[in-house]
Amino acid sequence: MTTYNIALLAGDGTGKEVTDEAVKVLKVIGEKYSIDFNFEPALIGGCAYDKFNTPLPEETLNIAKKSDAVLLGAVGDWKYDNLPPEVRPERALLGIRKELNLFANLRPATVYPELTELSPLKENVVSGTDIMIIRELTGDVYFGTPKGIDIKNGEKFGYNNMCYYESEIKRIAHIAFKVARARNKKLCSVDKANVLDVSRLWRETVNEISKEYLDVELSNMYVDNASMQLIRNPRQFDVILTGNIFGDILSDEASMLSGSLGLLPSASLSDGKIAMYEPIHGSAPDLKGKNIVNPIATILSAAMMLKYSFNLDNIHDDIVNAVRKTLKDGYRTQDIAQSGMETVGTDKMGNLICDRVLHG
Ligand code: IPM
Ligand code: MG
Repeated sequence: MTTYNIALLAGDGTGKEVTDEAVKVLKVIGEKYSIDFNFEPALIGGCAYDKFNTPLPEETLNIAKKSDAVLLGAVGDWKYDNLPPEVRPERALLGIRKELNLFANLRPATVYPELTELSPLKENVVSGTDIMIIRELTGDVYFGTPKGIDIKNGEKFGYNNMCYYESEIKRIAHIAFKVARARNKKLCSVDKANVLDVSRLWRETVNEISKEYLDVELSNMYVDNASMQLIRNPRQFDVILTGNIFGDILSDEASMLSGSLGLLPSASLSDGKIAMYEPIHGSAPDLKGKNIVNPIATILSAAMMLKYSFNLDNIHDDIVNAVRKTLKDGYRTQDIAQSGMETVGTDKMGNLICDRVLHG
């Protein structure tokens, strides 16, 4: 029997509720396919700060580094809003991304046929949309130096540095071309090369790498145009490659095509062994303990783990099919409630998906 060791970082707010359901689904998968998933819990975010005075304790990092993959819920709570920036829960996310070298963030934005009417956009615009956003995750203005708030010319002056090494652009470009190759062979690289030098290097480098992937059709788009095109005609996109800050913004925008943040998973990959999987939504502390948050994004993140960390593509599909079947059968959590459908709680949604994994 194969054993996979998963670091389980539930985090804050509703993080535990959603990861509980993903663990349930993985256990059912384990039974069905004779895989032993071994979960090692560790603290991250505000709950880690409460206990260790840091949102990313050494112990958590060690557990993550020793694991085969990391499953994360979410971090953050309003009660930490007044902490100094270096110990806020969000810092743990940036820290673990950097420490595990998780430079490639895959954020699919899929519009499920059962849910097209939930999108704030017209059904005929969004239906059939299936985009994979590939966001560089360990560079850019998020990590660039110098940065800070100083006094300059007698007033406060805040600054960050938007910067990329060529090698950082190359490695994420290779991932994007490979992902595009396995999909519809269309890659759109998004930058601001008409204004920013860092984007000029981005575009030159991506264009250079494209010579190694002649079967993939590459286009370049400015980020302002891309944000407009995502709303105007999302189906024109297959894979989008972009930097850290543009990817942060565009992936939130794209999430709305599908109607609810509660549906969208993500994978953060490195060139090493470890990858991390998490829903793209936050910790929703206002929903904590109410058994109403949607676990689908986290369950689909666990599915991505099977595909990207363990090469179990068929089992990934098994989970995705079980989720789709559950939606087709008319079950909804409250964020995706629809008239004529039964609204169920977090744990019931998890159970319904488990049933369909086991019995189809
Ligand atoms: C995300 C989030 C994070 C980011 C925050 C919470 C640090 O918005 O994962 O998209 O900006 O990367
Ligand atoms: Mg974001």
